[in-house]
Formats: sequence, C-alpha cells, structure tokens
Amino acid sequence: MTGRRIAETWTSRLGVIMAVAGSAVGLGNFLRFPGLAAQYGSGAFMIAYFISLILLGIPVCWAEWTLGRYAGQRGFNSSPGIFYALIRHPAGKYIGVLGAVIPVVIYMYYVYIESWCLGYAYYYLTGQMNLGSEVSAYGDFFARFVGAVEDGLTLGRGHNQVIIFLAIAFTFNFVIIYRGIAKGIELFCRFAMPALIVLALIIVARVLTLGTPDPARPDQNLLNGLGFMWNPGDVGHQLRNPELWLAAAGQIFFSLSVGFGVIVTYASYLSEKDDVVLSGLTASSANEFCEVALGGMITVPAAFVFLGTAGIMGQGTFALGFNVLPLVFSKMPLPWLFGGMFFTLLFLAAVTSSLSMLQPGIAYLEEGLGLNRKQSITLLGMLTALGCLFMVYFSKDLKALDTVDFWVGTFLIFVMATIILICFGWVMGVDQGWVEAHKGAELRLPKFFKPIFKYVSPLYLLTIFAFWVLFKVFGWDRATGTFTPTEYVTDLVGAEPNNVARLGVLLILVVTGFFMVLAAAAGRRWDRARQATPTRKGTPQ
Ligand code: ALA
Repeated sequence: MTGRRIAETWTSRLGVIMAVAGSAVGLGNFLRFPGLAAQYGSGAFMIAYFISLILLGIPVCWAEWTLGRYAGQRGFNSSPGIFYALIRHPAGKYIGVLGAVIPVVIYMYYVYIESWCLGYAYYYLTGQMNLGSEVSAYGDFFARFVGAVEDGLTLGRGHNQVIIFLAIAFTFNFVIIYRGIAKGIELFCRFAMPALIVLALIIVARVLTLGTPDPARPDQNLLNGLGFMWNPGDVGHQLRNPELWLAAAGQIFFSLSVGFGVIVTYASYLSEKDDVVLSGLTASSANEFCEVALGGMITVPAAFVFLGTAGIMGQGTFALGFNVLPLVFSKMPLPWLFGGMFFTLLFLAAVTSSLSMLQPGIAYLEEGLGLNRKQSITLLGMLTALGCLFMVYFSKDLKALDTVDFWVGTFLIFVMATIILICFGWVMGVDQGWVEAHKGAELRLPKFFKPIFKYVSPLYLLTIFAFWVLFKVFGWDRATGTFTPTEYVTDLVGAEPNNVARLGVLLILVVTGFFMVLAAAAGRRWDRARQATPTRKGTPQ
C-alpha cells in the first residue's frame, strides 16, 4: 500500500518540536485551563489533571507520533491515508476521516475566537480600550463585539469590526500554510513560540509583583490570589465529583491537541531516523509549562487581587478572559501595555494552534484528490470560510460555536483518541508499536508503559467517555438515578428544537459526508498506486 510521496519534511528536530508544542499551546492554556482549575477547586483538579496527563495525554501523544511516522514512511500524510495504512482494510480510510473533520471544523470557530484576541490586542495597543471600572461595561462591549447579542449583528453596519479582524486572522493563517511545512508552519512557530513565552513571562512577573494593590482590602493580596488558584481545598470531597474527572480529561486532550488528527499528520513528515519518544515528551512538557506555570499564574491570581473571589466565581471561560481580565488591566498602571501584551500573546498562541488545524485538511486534499497546494488551499479556504461565516452569523449567545465545540471539540475528540489507542495497542499491537516508537529514539520508555498502552489507557478513556455521555448527553442525575437529556440533545430532538444547534450539527455532518466521499475517491487512487508500485520491504501490501 502506498500513497503519493510528499517530499515535504521538517528541517530540524527543534522545528518539529516547536510546531507540535505550538499546536498544543493555545487558547486552552491561557483561557480554558485557569477557568476550569478555579471552578473545580484547583488542588483536586490538578490531581485529576495530572492523572489524565500520565494515563491519557502522554500515551495518546506517543501513539500519535509513532503511528503518524509509521504511515508517513509508507507514503501517507493525511489521516484517512494514515489509518488506511495502519488498519489495512478499506474501512480504515473512513475511520481516518475523523482526523480531518475534527481539526477543520474546530478551525471554523477557533479562528473566530482568535480574531477576538487580535481585535482586543489592537484596541489596547491603540489606547481604545478605556471602558471604566464596571465589569458590566466590558461584558456589554464583548457581547456586541462578538455578536452575542443577536444573530447577524456583526454583519450589520457599525458593528462589523470583528469581521475585519477575522478576515486578517483567517488570511494570515492561509498565507503561512501556503508556504508549506518548513517555510510556513515551522518558521512561524520558531518565531512565535519564544515570543509568546517571553510575553507570558513578562505578564507573570507583573502579576507576581502586584502585592496588595488596595490597602483597604488587605485580604486581596497576591499570596491569597495564588492560594485561591493553587491551595488544595477539600480534596477528598472534590475528587468524588465525576464532573471534575471529565473536565480534567477533556482539558488534557484539548490542550495537548491529542485526538485531533493533528499530531499524526505532523509526525508523518518525520523519517525513521527521527526520534519521537523524547520529542513527544518535550512538546508535551512545553505545553504543560505554558499551561500550569504561565497560564495558571496570570488570569486567576490577577483577578483575585483586584476583584476578590466574587469577581472570579461563576465566570465562564470567555467572561474571565474578555470581561474580567480587561477590568483587571484597567486597574493596573499602563493598562494599554499589559492588555496589549496579553492579547497579543493569546493571538500568537492561537495562530500556532489554528495553523495545525489546517494542515490535516491540506494534506488530505492533496493526497486524496491529487490537488496541488494552491488548489487544496483554495478548496479548504472556501470550505472553512463558509463554516466561519456560519459561526459569525449565528452568534447570539455564541450558540453555533458552543454546539459545534461540544460535538466536535469534545465528543469527537474522545472518539478519535479511543481509535488512536486501539490502533496502537491492538491493531498494530503494543509490541510492534513499542519497536516502532523506539526507532531513532533518544529516550527509552520504561517497560511498565506497555500495559498502560494496551489496557490501562484504553480502559480509563472508555470509562471517562462513558461517564461523559451519561452526564453530558443523557443528563444522568446520580442522586435520583434519573435521566434528563441535556440541552445539547433537546436542542436537536426536543419538543422545542433549536434551529441554530440543528444547523451546527448539519454543518458537521456535511463536512463529514464530503470527506467520506473524498475517502472513496482517494481509496481508488491509493489502490491504483499500490498496484503500480512493486512491493518494497517494510511496506504493507
Ligand atoms: N491545543 C490547542 C489549545 O490549547 C487547541 O488551544
């Protein structure tokens, strides 16, 4: 079996590590993580978080690096091709379609959020973000800016600034991706990753020197802010909350960009001589540093120091980042500078992630349809632009974004991560997987990871996934033992369905259907190529 050989490759180990770390470090690190940690009681949350990291995040990450490189050696760079090579059955390419659908659909809303960060950075750096000292003023501004007030608002006259930022962010991503793996993604991440870490370090230093800004409120000091973020509360009680475990596992997947189809694609451009074990661990560690040591030190401690517990509790991820933090910056000296730096940091982090969401789609269109880069970029650009417009138009309460994030950004990621673990531990087999992982490796894995790959991680993942479905889909109430389907279900099939949610799911199905049809065509191309290619050693036929 062989796909069309794509000559592209990474130019250096540092480059691929930066690119994978760039894919991982994103809005999840600086917006999603602090909000979740504060919501679930940080000490307990961190226990569940690190268990998920060791039992799910890192094993799936190593499995993705190994499987991607293995299939890349056999000529495949797209997720459908990769799973076709791995599963060695025609159904493999349809299973692999998920690895193209997930990143492409996530891109459609992720780049929209990215454009908010760009807009906020611009408003700060040009001194236009002076909204006073009430959080409601920031909330109103945000709701109008992103169109959460009513559908179609951002397309109307006088409210359409976000469209300009979206057009810039969208085009910026496509210009970089057009330049290819080495000259585009790798080069950009080599610049953007250190830049965003420097920005984050400056902001962390600023937060750590806040002291007690209001002497009339001595309790609102930095130490208490750090304590609020990091002190273990009633850990025993909190750990009995299954929702905490689900949130921790979901955060690990989203944050490491595992189960997206991104890492398999990136790893497919490696050669057998390249290390994957140490590189995978390094990229994951870089992500954890940015998430825990940087992301965990900014939003929540700073908000506590100025606003106290009341300013943080009950705030969602977006409210914390786009309403509470701007209010916090307004209370610091040089708000334009720190606000500008924070939102520039978010924008850079978001771009390195959104780029990685485009490459699986590009690889698929090139490999499956035989398109050249310009054609594949044009087709993917049109597809994602339509998806973005859908998110932008149906902006009321961010319903479209929320629906698609739920079904793709959480549900399908669980499905994809399960497929990856099963492919590594059971289809390829953990023994062969172990040999493949260690080709060119600069670090040997301890033997106890073998049963983790084969039994522990899949079982842990399936358990978490089953509970997630019970709670988040069927609305299981543990106390009463009753089921009340959640709004994600009733929006679709309830007595009063929500048309935007229905359209969101239709969008996911249309993209999936399109990619499935493409997989059938691609399969015919790959089979013809296989018949025309003489057997070569190590190539599954
Ligand atoms: N891993 C990316 C993030 O954290 C998607 O935002």
